[in-house]
Amino acid sequence: MKPRLPMIAATLGLLAAPAWSEGDPAEGEKVFRKCKACHEVGEDAKNKVGPILNNVLGQPAAQNPDFKYSSAMTEAAANGLVWDEESLTAYLEKPKEFMPGTKMSFAGLRKPEDIADVIAYLMPFSPMMEDEPEEEAETETSG
Ligand code: HEC
Repeated sequence: MKPRLPMIAATLGLLAAPAWSEGDPAEGEKVFRKCKACHEVGEDAKNKVGPILNNVLGQPAAQNPDFKYSSAMTEAAANGLVWDEESLTAYLEKPKEFMPGTKMSFAGLRKPEDIADVIAYLMPFSPMMEDEPEEEAETETSG
């Protein structure tokens, strides 16, 4: 039985509109060199050792239909894991600690600013993130 949680999580993720801290995308591009051995982003990106990292931020984990994720990853996704700032930061800091059994053989990024920067670099490749619903204009208490 495959729970259809990712769809629900995607909707919730959009509604929650998580705040992402601001890293430096130019610095992030340099940090991304460490990821490039396994990951590609952009229009012509292909799955390599790791999945394409387009449309990953703010989205449920393990959404790439052509990539064979570890069972650790698919289980986490079935349990509702969404790549928001908190989960992604924890995963990139210590992949194996955040997700025992993940196939991502990466030691992790030690510096919090490297993580923020690489997230800032990846952000434009997840355009769904920027699609802010305009009807979200809540009653603002002015004063
Ligand atoms: C040695 C190869 C390798 C390196 C280096 C690596 N990754 Fe990964 N990454 C993977 C693999 C393999 C997976 C799939 C993990 C699984 O299925 O458990 C993955 C998964 C991910 C995911 C989840 C994708 C999804 O579709 O849910 C993200 C996000 C990610 N990596 C980001 C990064 C970033 C950012 C870096 C650099 C800081 C990086 N990775 C470095 C191999 C790598």
